[in-house]
Amino acid sequence: MKNHRIALVPGDGIGTEVLPAARRVLDRVAPRHGIGLAYDSFDWSCERYLAEGAMMPADGLDTLRAYDAILLGAVGYPGVPDHVSLWGLLIPIRRTFQQYVNLRPIRVFDGVPSPLRDAAAGAVDFAIVRENVEGEYSEIGGRLNRGLPEEMAVQEAVFTRKGVDRVVDYAFGLAASRRGVLTSATKSNGIVHTMPFWDERVAELAARHPGVRWDQEHIDALAAKLVLAPDRFDVVVASNLFGDILSDLAAALAGSIGIAPAANLNPEGAFPSMFEPVHGSAPDIAGRGIANPLGAIWSAAMMLEHLGHAEAADRITGAIAAVLAETRVRTPDLGGTATTDEFTEALLAFL
Ligand code: NAI
Ligand code: MG
Repeated sequence: MKNHRIALVPGDGIGTEVLPAARRVLDRVAPRHGIGLAYDSFDWSCERYLAEGAMMPADGLDTLRAYDAILLGAVGYPGVPDHVSLWGLLIPIRRTFQQYVNLRPIRVFDGVPSPLRDAAAGAVDFAIVRENVEGEYSEIGGRLNRGLPEEMAVQEAVFTRKGVDRVVDYAFGLAASRRGVLTSATKSNGIVHTMPFWDERVAELAARHPGVRWDQEHIDALAAKLVLAPDRFDVVVASNLFGDILSDLAAALAGSIGIAPAANLNPEGAFPSMFEPVHGSAPDIAGRGIANPLGAIWSAAMMLEHLGHAEAADRITGAIAAVLAETRVRTPDLGGTATTDEFTEALLAFL
């Protein structure tokens, strides 16, 4: 038996509906693969912020440090500004635990039509590797002359050799374990300092991965190509901002944001990694029990893979593919009438 301690942070809205579904799937799969999972659940959320003035306790990060992984639902609540929920919980977790890879796999499944006419099931299967702790989302900058005609704002993008190298190296390694093709997102024609540096690092690191074919595309052209020919891609590596934008585009192209998973990885395992669906708390449908749990369930599979249980993870992604291909059971976002529970039941039947 291999034992792991998992911190559950359901968060707000549908986060509290999809995380129990993911846990049911984990509890079905784990024992059969000799995996013991012990959970503790934390109510850190916007509701906690409204009641107690903080998204998490002051020692929240110290508490999380003791866990092997964090499984998060979603945070966000009408009435609490989104930067509060983001900078009060998710970003401190990502940065303190050096989760410098944000990994987002994208697949068009048989049984889920893509909004793109030519995106065939099975053919579209790629991953976006987003740099997750530096780049354009830095805290360096400021504002001057607030409210005056001379008002100005400056925000610095920070690209370090260590920060770029480790995420690009991870992406090359991932590509080597897949179809062996890497695309680097750049904009070195318009952004004349950081992006040429990014390109140089990619070219130098490529030499360490002779088995991977690679090229680079300017981010604007790449966005167009992801729509026109998504089946051409295997692994796309991008800076924090570019990766953020591309990964929502890519999630949409797979048919529903409710399916897309994400992993915030500290690949060395020095700190816990965090797994979360790409979607937010969906206040428009929260409380009705109709959220699509697939993003959370697939994220849980990525967690098992990260913890060294690739076979158990494959069993879950196999069941996801099977329930979509072989049944018509769907939550409303995919055109069906099933509740979160009914859909989860249907998926459990394939495990
Ligand atoms: P959202 O992802 O919550 O919702 C966008 C649309 O997709 C909504 O119509 C929603 O009903 C639908 N949707 C999302 N997930 C679904 C699921 N699993 N099943 C069925 N339908 C689903 O994004 P939105 O509306 O921009 O943000 C709502 C709140 O969530 C905000 O407070 C935002 O800051 C927060 N948020 C949090 C994230 C996180 O915790 N990582 C990520 C994105 C947004
Ligand atoms: Mg985003």
